[in-house]
Amino acid sequence: GIQVFVGPYVHSVSWTEPLVVQPNGVIGVKDGKIVIVDTIENLDSLKTTHSFGDNDIVRLQEGEFLMPGMIDTHIHAGQYPNAGLNMDLPLLEWLDKYTFPLEAKYKDTKFAELVYRKLVEKTISSGTTTASYFTTLHIPSSEIMADLVEAYGQRALIGKVCMDCFSPEYYVETTEESLSGTTEFVKKILDRKNPLVLPTITPRFALTCSENLLKGLGEIAKEHDVHIQTHLCESLPEIERAMELFPQYKNYADIYAQTGLLTSKAIMAHCVHLTDEEIEILKENNTAVSHCPTSNICLLSGLCPIKKIRNAGVKVGLGTDVAGGYTPSILEAMRHAIMTAKTLGIEGKETEPLTYREALYFATLGGAEALALDQEIGNFQVGKAFDALVINLQHDLSPVDTFPEQEICDLIQKFIMLGDERNIIKVFVSGQIVKSF
Ligand code: GUN
Ligand code: FE
Repeated sequence: GIQVFVGPYVHSVSWTEPLVVQPNGVIGVKDGKIVIVDTIENLDSLKTTHSFGDNDIVRLQEGEFLMPGMIDTHIHAGQYPNAGLNMDLPLLEWLDKYTFPLEAKYKDTKFAELVYRKLVEKTISSGTTTASYFTTLHIPSSEIMADLVEAYGQRALIGKVCMDCFSPEYYVETTEESLSGTTEFVKKILDRKNPLVLPTITPRFALTCSENLLKGLGEIAKEHDVHIQTHLCESLPEIERAMELFPQYKNYADIYAQTGLLTSKAIMAHCVHLTDEEIEILKENNTAVSHCPTSNICLLSGLCPIKKIRNAGVKVGLGTDVAGGYTPSILEAMRHAIMTAKTLGIEGKETEPLTYREALYFATLGGAEALALDQEIGNFQVGKAFDALVINLQHDLSPVDTFPEQEICDLIQKFIMLGDERNIIKVFVSGQIVKSF
């Protein structure tokens, strides 16, 4: 049957209209899809046109509002045990010392099951209704990740990581293994025919992938018309090394462009140090950026001028980049995006702040656009899936205090700046409840 939510909702409709507040909303959901977006004054006539009764109505409590589910466009599932640890090294040293040894452990599927279950529970609890996950080199544990997101009902993209050179001897594949493994994994995920779980082609980055591997992965992505995710222009030493390894290419973005990896279903994490020419390459290819502000500070990578990139017409979503970023919370990524823009302002490098409205857009509709899923998710529009959160700042266990006369706009700001999973009292993915607090 139909379920009709009556109460306030907030969502984004575009980069230039990043926050619309409807205090008297009506949102109808049938078979997981949004079938009504209207206002209370029309409730009676909607009952007739959509044939529902009072029993089908869910009235939000005082102080509650609905918002779209949040989207984490870049998170390393296998790195979750290291969340909060190892804040002492920059990217390349951090990978060698902490990250590769941890990722190698996923040869053990029991360990994978233990970690991945906790992570899926945590991300759902934190309001992440869609996540684009990197797993590790290992296919069996990557399939366990798919089993778990499926069991918990989260929407996910899952990529088996590929690396065939300049990697530790204990954590590397041959080019052939990486390509055949990727094809096998893509087919296995597609064979599930679960519209919520999609495969994504995942070269780690240019520093650990041969030209043949990059090209082969580009071909697989094209053949199966699937997503692509990788890292681009994250840190200065990384860029320098990429250009040493690929001297025949114009710049780092060009390496991925020429190997078939910059598509309209591709998402490039970090992009802290893009040149204007590289921004243009991303735009021309309709390739998105995953802004990972927490990680960019933790790993000393730099401050990404994300408004400049978005204003140039490049799609942008937010990523936690666990464990480069210390937390799997997209709320915290929103805060760090806001603080990064302010820090660039202090340095005289970004003239405008990033507003909380724009941060909300990045966390929802922007993320959907970045993952080329904006026909399905990202906001409350008839025809899209109902991926949504019920937020409440005013219950006994809320970490946030609110005050008389504070309106929904104030509540959403307080939620972004001060809220946590205790404020996310219900989570829906495709109309199914996946968390109730
Ligand atoms: N670049 C290549 N691999 C990684 C990774 O695991 N984390 C981050 N932040 N950057 C990377
Ligand atoms: Fe990353």
